[in-house]
Amino acid sequence: KIFKEPFRPQFHFSPEKKWMNDPNGMVYYKGIYHLFYQYYPNDIIWGPMHWGHATSTDLIHWKHKKIALFPDKLGLIFSGSAVIDQNNSSKLGTKENPPMVAIFTYHNMEGEKAGKTNFQTQGLAYSLDEGDTWLKYEGNPIIGNSDLKDFRDPKVFWNTATNLWNLVLVAGDRAQFYTSKNLINWTLQSEFGKINGDHGGVWECPDIFKLKVANSNEEKWVLLVSINPGAPNGGSGTQYFIGDFDGKTFRTVQKETKWIDYGTDNYAGVTYNDAPNNRRLFIGWMSNWQYARNTPTKNWRSAMTLPRELSLEKLNNNYILKSTPVEELNKQFTTELSKDLLSLNANHTITINYDNLNQSDIKFKAYSKNLKLIFSNEAKDSLVIDYDAKQKTFSIDRRHSGIVNFEANFGKKIHKTSTSNIVSKTISYHMILDWSSIEIFLNDGIYTFTEQIFPKKAYNKLSIQSNENQEIKNIEISKIKGIWQ
Ligand code: FRU
Repeated sequence: KIFKEPFRPQFHFSPEKKWMNDPNGMVYYKGIYHLFYQYYPNDIIWGPMHWGHATSTDLIHWKHKKIALFPDKLGLIFSGSAVIDQNNSSKLGTKENPPMVAIFTYHNMEGEKAGKTNFQTQGLAYSLDEGDTWLKYEGNPIIGNSDLKDFRDPKVFWNTATNLWNLVLVAGDRAQFYTSKNLINWTLQSEFGKINGDHGGVWECPDIFKLKVANSNEEKWVLLVSINPGAPNGGSGTQYFIGDFDGKTFRTVQKETKWIDYGTDNYAGVTYNDAPNNRRLFIGWMSNWQYARNTPTKNWRSAMTLPRELSLEKLNNNYILKSTPVEELNKQFTTELSKDLLSLNANHTITINYDNLNQSDIKFKAYSKNLKLIFSNEAKDSLVIDYDAKQKTFSIDRRHSGIVNFEANFGKKIHKTSTSNIVSKTISYHMILDWSSIEIFLNDGIYTFTEQIFPKKAYNKLSIQSNENQEIKNIEISKIKGIWQ
């Protein structure tokens, strides 16, 4: 099926039609990546939540599947995760055919309307046919609620060090860690966060996983916590903490707040369970609650970020969670322009005319000196990207990038980020555009920026400028083949 509406991403996942928000239940099983997502099948704005479902063998081409989970008398189906219960610890399947188990939040609207505080509980559903059809567990909810108003978004995983199931969820201003032998009975072990991290909004969609620190034997745990509002450039965003986790308690000495993405449009992202080759694969919702309901698309609303591989690096004694687009994307590329060197004299402009900028991959290296990139079109839209070497800031100016007036905040300010972790003499720039989005990775994902844009026409001109002498090295512009044919 082909999707060609204005702004429709051509190689990012989006639902066939109607509203989508968070990715849910990401699990790999028998060669297939499952992606479930918050879905409202009756409108292009948020409504009573279901879990939509899609599958992929390569994280790039997706098959839309039928709705997996429907609201029931316990409530709407909010965000959560899925695992394969290999040993049938839950006894919901068999050892030969282990159940796929989803644990999610029930949001009870009647309870909420009645002014109660305990209207969010955790429920379980399972599938014995690889995610096609689902049964709700009869003993739901499996984790009840005494009176925690925001109590949601369970992420479950198998802890190989303790041989137990772990679950992390959020309770307003903190995360809670649980353990279980059978995915059904859970014991609260500890809490984290009341005094850590940012609290500009409520905590949502946590995830926790272990990563090797590059070029060392060290391993660290990463805790992701989405927060809405309170992100550095407004609205919703995802912070992370680096620390240690013994299966019960998460500890960190981290003082400052770190963000997985410094753009405005990467929210509620979590990672795959059981991804092959020990890869830590991340997908986020490419929007922001500040204006998610107002974006100028028809038929459908929202897309996911590109799947990204996460890794950890220690730079200047500082742990950094890096994100890079998964290498599977490369096979969609056809390189159409490449040059070893473009010399850029101070106060001059290099102009590249290229019709396919809105569906392209652009890579090059430049000195860590000032550099400005301007994407534009004949409709006078311009998207300006600016690295300021003295201030050590990176900014994205989408104020005139296209349609911006659907919501007051969307095009209000330049989004500026301090990039003090850039210590190299050269910077590698990697930008991927897909009609209504741009994803930027600096120095292989030391800094990542994801932003939505709604240009009135495709950008067909890229101007490169600097007020210093610059060199643009190994520039490659590739066309990216769409996935919907
Ligand atoms: C995050 C979130 C979750 C919740 C879901 C509801 O975007 O608010 O906390 O489970 O969306 O759709």
